[in-house]
Amino acid sequence: MKDDLFDLPVKIGGVEFKNPFMVASGPTVKWISQLEQAEREGWAAASIKQTFNPRPYLNFDPRYRWLKKEKLHTFTAEYRLSMEEGLRLMEEGRKRCKELILIANYSYVKGDLEGWQEAAIRFEAAGAHMLEINFCCPNMSFNVDLSSPETKEARPSSGASMGQDERSVRLVIEKTREVTRLPLIAKITPEGGRIAEVSYVAFEAGVSAVSSVANRLGIPPIDIWNYKKPIYNLQGQNTMGCLSGPWIKPLALRDVFEIRNRVGPAPVIIGTGGVASMEDAVEMMMCGADVIGVCTETMLSGFSFLGKWMGSLKDYMKKMGFQTYRDFRDLLLQEIKPATELTLWAGYAQVDPEKCSSCGLCVEIGHCNAIVMTDEAASIDSKLCHGCSTCIDICPQKAILMTEQR
Ligand SMILES: Cc1cc2nc3c(=O)[nH]c(=O)nc-3n(C[C@H](O)[C@H](O)[C@H](O)COP(=O)(O)O)c2cc1C
Ligand code: SF4
Ligand code: SF4
Repeated sequence: MKDDLFDLPVKIGGVEFKNPFMVASGPTVKWISQLEQAEREGWAAASIKQTFNPRPYLNFDPRYRWLKKEKLHTFTAEYRLSMEEGLRLMEEGRKRCKELILIANYSYVKGDLEGWQEAAIRFEAAGAHMLEINFCCPNMSFNVDLSSPETKEARPSSGASMGQDERSVRLVIEKTREVTRLPLIAKITPEGGRIAEVSYVAFEAGVSAVSSVANRLGIPPIDIWNYKKPIYNLQGQNTMGCLSGPWIKPLALRDVFEIRNRVGPAPVIIGTGGVASMEDAVEMMMCGADVIGVCTETMLSGFSFLGKWMGSLKDYMKKMGFQTYRDFRDLLLQEIKPATELTLWAGYAQVDPEKCSSCGLCVEIGHCNAIVMTDEAASIDSKLCHGCSTCIDICPQKAILMTEQR
């Protein structure tokens, strides 16, 4: 391993990450051998699997599906670590991994604040470099609230239901701050649409970074002919799924963009959600992220792709004249304009008759009356064309091009 390939430092709360890539909390950070492998493959940090004290009511063997075509990962059933397992993993990880920054990711599901404090104290004693307080898991009380609203009052709020409430988030962070000097990260939920405001409050309360985003809760595809059978193997019921992977990226970019706009340039943001390539990571940074969290891609492909990402990131930076990641962080903040400021040029689409196979797909477009089929090929009336581009994307022969009129 070439050391300098992985060198692109970022600091969070005084802790130096050798590069901006961390393994986000999930199934690939549950065992010591996974942490060791992540370190060998050059990852800067790992947020270990979520720990609970006590374990929540939802704690099962994992049932996952990766829907390749939709680029969507979904799960409901998942195994969390007990406090003792989490502490052992942290202690062992600190002994065996010399460079990897280890972050404790934990939640507490009872109503009091002492449990949050106890987790912080014990993880600090176990050697954690940082603490990531999980205000985001959609698969705890939030899942049950949505699937079974009538029992809502009986449950203490946790994970994504708690993370939508600034008051609770502030209180937990302030109480945690009282008992530890470790840098804190708040992992914030996008559910409820309050992610920017809650992040702002989290920084006020004393975190060194916010981490955005976790999974979104949704209903995974069902077989309408056999709707009682879920898509998961070895599972009896349909359930709401925690959705992750590339499909989530546009929403995750928006979340990071909103947070950066709200909190300003100084605070550190960890951007997570659907990152599956170096280009995805750069987009996330251009929207405001300092560090990139990756979970689903490590589930599907392990850890070794990071070397390739780092190589192409370095090449990209060189070609673009960027010295550090800060040279391209936030670049999209200026570029993403409000809808009221759009500039649109006139133009029309044209068919190249040489390429057209007369398949007729473009003629079927429901919102367009500009395209007709002639004996030889499809043809577009430039006066009726509004320049929307749908035909260009539909044509299997790439036979349609846009002509700009400035
Ligand atoms: C199976 C699975 C388990 C996860 N477990 C945790 C967890 O224990 N703690 C946590 O903060 N996030 C957890 N996450 C969320 C991820 O860390 C990440 O925020 C989310 O999946 C979006 O990123 P991705 O598209 O790269 O997976 C989990 C995600 C998946 C898919
Ligand atoms: S660009 Fe839009 S409006 Fe113009 S021909 Fe194609 S589908 Fe019709
Ligand atoms: S979709 Fe393309 S190939 Fe098919 S008729 Fe239209 S222009 Fe021709």
